[in-house]
This record gives sequence, structure tokens and C-alpha cells, in this order.
Amino acid sequence: MARKRVAILISGRGSNMEALIRAARDPAYPAGIVVVAADKPAAGLAIAAAEGIPTAVADYKALGGKAAGEAELNRVLDEAGTELICLAGFMRILSADFVQRWHDRLINIHPSLLPSYPGIDTHARALAAGDKVHGCTVHFVRAEVDTGPVILRETVPIRPGDTAETLARRVLEAEHRTYPRALALVASGQVTAASASGA
Ligand code: GAR
Repeated sequence: MARKRVAILISGRGSNMEALIRAARDPAYPAGIVVVAADKPAAGLAIAAAEGIPTAVADYKALGGKAAGEAELNRVLDEAGTELICLAGFMRILSADFVQRWHDRLINIHPSLLPSYPGIDTHARALAAGDKVHGCTVHFVRAEVDTGPVILRETVPIRPGDTAETLARRVLEAEHRTYPRALALVASGQVTAASASGA
């Protein structure tokens, strides 16, 4: 079966992007990374370029805002023949129109066990609540932020003495395992938005 053509959107260092690129190096992996795009000159773009993957910046600020930024993203995504989009630390809230255009073809990784802790500062909030476990979730994107059918979750135990930083580090390791697995499930058709569970 042909590999799914996957675009990755980032805003920062791109360690999840790197995990996806590494997984896709295996010819047996059901997805290939066709472009990496960012909403600003993100550090991770250099990593993608070094891997020989085309990169693009849809600079929201320089273009004058969300509508122009998303229009440029769509142009880049279409030009690359994108079939599936992975958000990997993309820190802009996407418009309902954008989410609708890519309905069921847009997935995200979030550093908490959704539906717990949507939004930011997830690690500090889990610690403040006295939780015993934390983790990460890969899900199909819906217009409401950090909601949508769940593809995979990985649980990470919270240890005595954990700080937001030590916990974030352990959750990030889990993210790097979980995202390539989740993308493989979607790209191979083993999981669809209809078969995934709601969050
Ligand atoms: C990751 O922890 C990702 O889950 C989180 O940002 C980090 C990006 O790191 N995403 C969100 O919080 C989205 N709501 P990375 O650039 O090294 O992949």
C-alpha cells in the first residue's frame, strides 16, 4: 500500500517531529513526511531540512494574522500533496474552517491524559492536583481546543519529588514513543476517527 503523505506543523524545537521523521525512515512505515511547516522561524525546521525534508514558514506575524497564516499553510500543504497533518508542538489555535477543511485528516499530540488538562502548563497542574499519573494523548483534532477522538494515550507515573520539569521530561519520552505509533495506526487505516474513542 502507498505510504500516506504526511505534513508536520511545528512552532518550536520539534522533538516530536524528529520522532516521526525517524519512524518514517523505515520503508515499511505506512507514512512518509512530505513537508514540515511552522508559523514562525522555528528551531525544528533546521532539523527537518538536515533530513532532506522540504520546509516552509507561514509567518503569521509577517503575513498579518491567523487568516493569512492559515491560507499560506493551506497553500504549502496542498502543494506538497498532503493527505494527513500531524501537529507537533504547533502552538496556534486553528480556526474552525481550517479544522473542517482537514476533518479527520488532522491529528495532535497533547502532554496530558485528555480530557484532563487541556491547554497549557499541564505538568504543573497535574502536580498541583496531587495526581498519581499523568501522560500524553494523540487525538484527531476538532474545533474545540484539545478535544477529539483519541487514537492513543500513554500513562506516565508521577513520582514523589517530581517537579514540572522532571515530569515534562518523562512525558516527552512517552510522547516520542506514542506519536509514531499513533500515526502508524491512522496512516495504515487501523484506526479512524469513527473507531477512535471520544475525548
Ligand atoms: C510537546 O510536549 C507537545 O505535546 C506540546 O508541546 C511540546 C512540543 O515539543 N504540545 C502542546 O502543548 C499542544 N497543545 P516539541 O517541539 O519538542 O515536539
